[in-house]
Amino acid sequence: MKIASVVGARPQFIKAAPVSRELRQHNEEILVHTGQHYDANMSDVFFAALDIPAPDYNLGVGSASHAQQTADMMKGLEDVFEKESPQFVLVYGDTNSTLAGALVAAKMGLPLGHVEAGLRSYNRSMPEEANRVVTDHVSAILFCPTPGAVENLRQEGITRDVHLVGDVMYDVALQSAQAARSRDTLARLGLKAGDYILATVHRAGTVEDPSTLRRIVDALVLCGRTVVFPVHPHTRKNLEAFGLWEALRSKVLAIDPVDYLDFLALLMNASKVVTDSGGVQKEAYFFGIPCVTLRDETEWLETVEDGWNAVVGTETEDILDAIANFNPEGIKSKSFGDGHAAEKIARVLDRLG
Ligand code: UD1
Ligand code: UDP
Repeated sequence: MKIASVVGARPQFIKAAPVSRELRQHNEEILVHTGQHYDANMSDVFFAALDIPAPDYNLGVGSASHAQQTADMMKGLEDVFEKESPQFVLVYGDTNSTLAGALVAAKMGLPLGHVEAGLRSYNRSMPEEANRVVTDHVSAILFCPTPGAVENLRQEGITRDVHLVGDVMYDVALQSAQAARSRDTLARLGLKAGDYILATVHRAGTVEDPSTLRRIVDALVLCGRTVVFPVHPHTRKNLEAFGLWEALRSKVLAIDPVDYLDFLALLMNASKVVTDSGGVQKEAYFFGIPCVTLRDETEWLETVEDGWNAVVGTETEDILDAIANFNPEGIKSKSFGDGHAAEKIARVLDRLG
């Protein structure tokens, strides 16, 4: 079967890596990069570190308003699908690239598969929530990472062709842990294992509001720990624009975004993670690192239920309290699959073709 896979943002390169490898055993894959992320350290480094095949097309859409960006992707994807006539389209996660791929497939009558289906924050002010809901509702096949995701879909009346396969990010994390351990990441940055906090912040709702960003910077500066913070370009721009960059850098090791293996090395050796990322919350759980989540809710309830993720919001005092006192020790009982989600996805697709 000829499958067009659509990716465009950092987490999608990571998710596509194991799936692409499996798909290509029995199918022809056309990999389309929308160009949503384009800096080398937001895109190329993932293809290199995870050995992902070079995209067959890069639409080069770049950054713009949501409507402009999504519209540009849709036009580019329509051209590619017309030229390539794929029999199936596969999208990942919840970005504008996901939505564009889903809508174009739906409009062209192409069957669509959604990897990481069924996630919900139930916060409609997040751009990702609209992307997820629409994508799930136009998908022919839904690949869910957790039983909770299957249940969310059931509540919206989606029960046909829903497959609980596990989380492809768990696959990648397991496959990459050894390579990450052999990196000299900590030595390069002058860090000691177990003796620092890893921070990431990039969500639009967090970084676009000056007072929210200031409260987070205050917490990282005041916490009295070594903090390493690979800074997303959107966050960097706003830290500079809001006059917070120098204050942050006076106390925090603020570095450029790193590739996936360096990131896993930083995560596995951190004493705690402080983040507003979806993927990083899960990775912290996979490796048993306490996670402090700078949001008011999470899609990944499993990480909270066992007590490994403290969802604390963005007040400085709450973040400081969690950094000082959140020290979970309980078991990790929740399953993100068995590390073979990508194989399961490929086997489902094999049955179609
Ligand atoms: C996007 C996703 C978000 C995901 C995140 C992963 C949407 C709506 N959001 O957010 O769900 O969690 O990716 O990282 O799809 N920029 C650069 N260089 C780049 C990419 C972005 O400088 O290579 C800057 C630009 O100023 C741009 C801003 O970052 O305007 C935001 O980029 P965008 O892709 O729109 O959203 P993300 O915040 O990255
Ligand atoms: N990541 C990385 N380098 C970084 C920051 C993040 O490799 O400097 C990885 C990390 O594994 C994370 C993934 O990128 O899980 C997802 O990215 P992000 O947090 O931007 O997106 P989200 O998961 O919130 O959509």
